[in-house]
This record gives sequence, C-alpha cells and structure tokens, in this order.
Amino acid sequence: MERYAIDVLLEKMTLDEKIGQLMQYAGAFYSEEANDTPVTGPAELPINQHAVKKSGSVLGVAGAKKTIGIQKEHLKSNRLGIPLLFMADVINGFRTIFPIPLALGSTWEPELVQQAQSVAAKEAASAGVHVCFAPMVDLVRDPRWGRVMESTGEDSFLNSRFAEATVKGFQGNDLRKEFDRVAACVKHFAAYGAAEAGRDYNTVDMSERELREQYLPAYKAALDAGSELVMTAFNTVDSVPATGNKPLMRGILREEFGFEGVLISDYGAVGELIPHGVAENEKEAAQKAITAGVDIEMMSLCYENDLKGLVETGEVSIDLVDEAVLRILQLKEKLGLFDDPYRGVSEGREEQTLFTAEHRELARKTAEKSTVLLKNNGVLPLKTKKIALIGPYGDNKDILGEWSIFGKQEEAVTLKEGLALHSEQIVYAAGAQMYERDQEHFQEAMVLAKSVDTVVLALGEGRDRSGEGRSRANITIEECQLELLRELKAIGKKVVVVLFNARPLDLTEVDQLADAILEAWHPGSEGGAAVANILFGSVVPSGKLSMSFPRTVGQLPLYYNSYSTGRPLPENSDERFFSRYIDVANTPLYSFGHGLSYASFQYENLTLDKTEIQRHESINASITITNTSHFDGEETVQLYIQDIVGEVVRPVKELKGFKKIIIEANESKTVSFTITEDMLRYHHADLSYTSDPGNFRVFIGTSSSNTEQAEFRLIK
Ligand code: GLC
Repeated sequence: MERYAIDVLLEKMTLDEKIGQLMQYAGAFYSEEANDTPVTGPAELPINQHAVKKSGSVLGVAGAKKTIGIQKEHLKSNRLGIPLLFMADVINGFRTIFPIPLALGSTWEPELVQQAQSVAAKEAASAGVHVCFAPMVDLVRDPRWGRVMESTGEDSFLNSRFAEATVKGFQGNDLRKEFDRVAACVKHFAAYGAAEAGRDYNTVDMSERELREQYLPAYKAALDAGSELVMTAFNTVDSVPATGNKPLMRGILREEFGFEGVLISDYGAVGELIPHGVAENEKEAAQKAITAGVDIEMMSLCYENDLKGLVETGEVSIDLVDEAVLRILQLKEKLGLFDDPYRGVSEGREEQTLFTAEHRELARKTAEKSTVLLKNNGVLPLKTKKIALIGPYGDNKDILGEWSIFGKQEEAVTLKEGLALHSEQIVYAAGAQMYERDQEHFQEAMVLAKSVDTVVLALGEGRDRSGEGRSRANITIEECQLELLRELKAIGKKVVVVLFNARPLDLTEVDQLADAILEAWHPGSEGGAAVANILFGSVVPSGKLSMSFPRTVGQLPLYYNSYSTGRPLPENSDERFFSRYIDVANTPLYSFGHGLSYASFQYENLTLDKTEIQRHESINASITITNTSHFDGEETVQLYIQDIVGEVVRPVKELKGFKKIIIEANESKTVSFTITEDMLRYHHADLSYTSDPGNFRVFIGTSSSNTEQAEFRLIK
C-alpha cells in the first residue's frame, strides 16, 4: 500500500474515517480471542462492526498473538492502511509485577522506579502494547478512596519525581527506534484524587489556588518529562466535568502547559457528561468534549453517533476534528507504526522478554525497598529460625495488587515460600479467612503458636477491597483477623504483623498489640521473598511512607502539609477552643515520611551557612547523621521548609528535597541541601507564582514529624 505523509493522509480521509480514529473500544469487540480482555468499566456498548472496523485504537488487549491477529485483520479492510494503536493499563508491571504505586512511593527512589517502569515497558511492548495508561499522579489525602493504591502519595513534590521517572522509564529516548518502549499517558487530569469523602467518582471542588499549588504540579512534571498522552478525569473541576472542561483542557493543559499530544477521555467519560447533568444527550456531550479538546473517546459512543451530524450542520468545526485526528496520526507515526504496524512483535520475542530472572530480581529489590517498618520493639530482625506463620496472607499468592491484569498470580512468591528460603523450621496455619472467621483453623493456629516464641502474623485487605470503584467507609483490619492478633498476645507470644494492603489503614489496635509491624503493601511477584529477606535481616528495611496513616477514619482527610489555622493546638494541650477533636489526637498514627530501619540514625548539628539571603543567593543547609547501631542502613534524609508568613496561609511544612544514603554501622555522614529562592515560591491570591521576603523555617529529619530545625530570612 502506498505510504502517505500524515497531512496528505488526513486530506484523503472521509469524515467517517476521521471520526473512526477518535474512537476506542475494548478488545472483546475486535476478536473472539480477546474476549478475556479485562473489563475496567461498564462493558455494555451497542456498537456495530462497521464502527469497530474503522476505529483508531483498542483498549486493554495485550499478547503478541492477539495483537498481531487484530492488527492484521484490521489492516485488511482499512482503506488507507492506518494501523491500530493498542493501549492498556500497565501500572506496576506487565507480567513481572512490581509493588503497587503507593508502595513504589515508599521507596523514595525515583531512579529505581524508572528502572522498574522500563522493564514494564519492555514486557508490554513485546506483547504488542503501544500506550500504557500511567503514571497516575493524582494527589491523595483520603485513604477511603480505593484508588490511593495507584498514586505515589500525598505530596506534590514527591509525586512529581515519580511522575517523571515513570514517563522516562516508559518512553526512553526515541519511541520510533526503541521498540522496547511504550508511550506514557499521565492521568487523570485533573484532581481525581480529591473526590469528596473518598467516594470514587464523587465531586471535586477546590480553589484554583489549591489546584495549582497542590494538584497540578505532578501532571506538569509528567508533561515536562514528555508524556505523549493525557487522560481526562471523571470528576468535576470547578463544577464542570473535566472531560467537557474547556478552560482546564484548552486553557491550562494545552495553552499554558503547552501539551501537544493526545488527550483521551477516561472510560465512558464523554457519555458521562449526561448523568453529570451538563449535556442533555450524546450530541451535546460530543460537542462539549471535542470543544474542550478531547481527541479520543474511550468506551462511549457520542463521537461515533453524533459528531458527523454536528460537523455537517456546522455546530462543530471540521478543524476541531482534523486537529484531533492529526494528533492521533502523529502519535502512530512517532511509535513507528506506519513503518511496522507490529513494532517488531513476535511470539518468540515476547516469550524471551516476559518474567525473566533479571526482571524478577528487580521486582524483589523494588519490593524490599518499598516495605516500610512501621514499628519495632526489638523483635525484628528475627532472632530465631523457629517461627509460626499465621494469617490469611501467610501463604497467599494474591499479592500482585488490583492493576496486575497481565500478571500471573500463580507466579507470585508467597510469604511462606519466601520464609522457607531462610528456615526449615516454619510452621504455618492461616487461622482465619480474609473476611471470615474459621473456628477450626483458628484453634489449629493457636496450637501451633504455643510451640514457638515468635509469630509472624500476615494480615491485610484483599485485592477486591481496593482499586477503582472500591471506596471504603471503614478502613480497619477485619475483625476475624484482629481476633488472631488479640488471642496470640493473650497467650503471650511475640507477634510481628506483616501487612498486605493497598491503602493506609486504621492500625490503632494493631499498633497497641503488635511487637513489630511491617507494611509490605501488595508487593508484586517477588513479594514473599522480599519480606522474608527483611524479616530475617538479610535486607535492612528502608521504606518511608508517602501517605499518612490516620488513627481513625474520622480524621480524614489527613496530610502532613496542612495549614496551621488561627487556633493551632499547642503541644500536649487538651484545652477546648483550639482546632482539635475531643476524642482523638490531631496527629496521624504514622506520619508522612515515617519508616524505621534496623539501624538507628541520630540527627545533629543542623547548620545553615547563612541566615539571610537575597533572591539570587542560596543557602547550604547541612546536617550530620550518625548510625549508632551495628547494622549498615539506608536512610532517606528529608528537607522541609515553612514560609512563616505569607500573603495567603502557608503549610506548616512542605517537602522540598530528599536524599537517600547508605550509612554504615557506627559511621557519621554529613548531608547537605542547597536552598534557593525558587523553592520558596507559591501561588498568591492573584495566582502569581512568586516568593515573599520574610522568615522561613528549615526542617531536616527522618520523617515529617521528626526533624531538627533552623531559620533564615529572605530579603529583597
Ligand atoms: C478506568 C480508569 C483508568 C483506566 C481506564 C482504562 O475506568 O479510570 O484509570 O486507565 O479505565 O482501563
């Protein structure tokens, strides 16, 4: 078939063919073989084969055989030979599964995440995937929301670093040449993570200042790193659903941020403009979405059914359609699809690429680095090889997390399997099911426990309790699991709780009872091996929380970088007329940045080389950290700054830098940060982004709640 330049191709296309390019349907519509494509939203869609045949992209299909088959079939009947784009949710790994994104956030190691995402890209690309729907960079402050697992946490600075890392890991340097890379799609633009009361798809309402200050930076970071696509959010932004929000999409995203890539709607989100109540019918929804700048409509039919009519009557300019089509064709060209619509995919290459020993090794390392030691009274690392392993997660392969749709559960290493690599003296009983009591096994577990001093108790929430459409109003561990912990303590055992869960939980009771708590999250393919290495001390834990753990659900939303209010509660006070609860502390149970090590780090001598700077000058802030233990350890040193007086209220502290360093046993290291004026800027009442002269507090420490401090002054 003749090969045309893209603009020539556009000229040759009929309106019907153009509209086809704007449509994306799930794999099951394309082939019988793709019938097992995971469903990620409402699946019913009354489409005919003509629509499917002329569509421009496919949702959720992966696998060399399937993608080659669908592409071949498609090209047979496509008049101009325009290949399909295959897009899928590859969030924390393709076949080799890495820890869930919230766990990746706990690594505080963007370079490692970049490596992990390049492995994910390599595997996905070998299976014929061209675009991966990540990074999800929605800032999250409310763990009731089931999708906090997909985010790297509550801080815009940290999220931005991970956003860049994922985009770079996916895209490499040149998608046209590097067939082991995929295009990234940053999502969900914008502020999807702020759903009221943590209920999925719920309203988002905030000031533009807050939006720009907290929520937009991570999307912007992904764009600056080159993300080829953006996905719209389901929610409203300033009372208009994002998918039909022209000021957001054409104004901020395109004009202000300079985004020139493809904007895709979230699943069914164009059609949802109708139930949102901003469009009367599909026709109006189509008009609003295309006017707002949405190029691809995923899994609803507004463009397909009504765009043609809208163009013919002049209600929508053909230029809007052409511009969208052109962007999609450009993406296809960038990916090299006009040269090779299969991007070098073959079943042989796929087989060689997936789940290699090297990939698994990286998955294990990533899981080790994302595990957070929340509490330890000295019981860890384990001092004995004779251990009872109890709990519904003790020998459970369901540890890949909700988005692991192309992973294979049977390939996951369970905790029991991991522990067996260290000791032959492990006895095991589940003792309870995930959500139900099991009297017989409960007794069996207690009998086992009586034969040992120390129990490893593996608890958590199942994969079916987190992810999209899985908000929870209660975020405690199930009663049937807590009963195990209570009884084990009642019979006098040392209990190490290992948690496999996908959101911050209310761990107040667990914290009171357990001797140690290790947060393993949903750690991926090598999870059990990674956790066992930590329990037995062959790896020293180094993860730090990127999201606060509340004491109770009633404190939510809860985040470290809050404002002080006019009545900040004095320390240790329980007086009435301050901003506080009368029945629970204001503070989280475990704060942002918290995470223990087997080593102990002592921070001292925070020194600023100047206490006053002008705008063009910088400050060197340094601190000495001594490892006072006999373990070599890795520490994430965190820098926070507070603008003491602003034109608008400013957070009590904000993360501005971090450094991860290895400090050997009994060694001291000095760590320094450079503070420059641009780190002091914020959005003023008129939305200008500048700094103000005045006093600033510098905090350096091991977590957001455990720091040394000093002050400096910015002068004009
Ligand atoms: C969903 C999600 C989005 C995902 C998409 C495609 O409903 O909100 O994150 O990428 O569908 O599966």
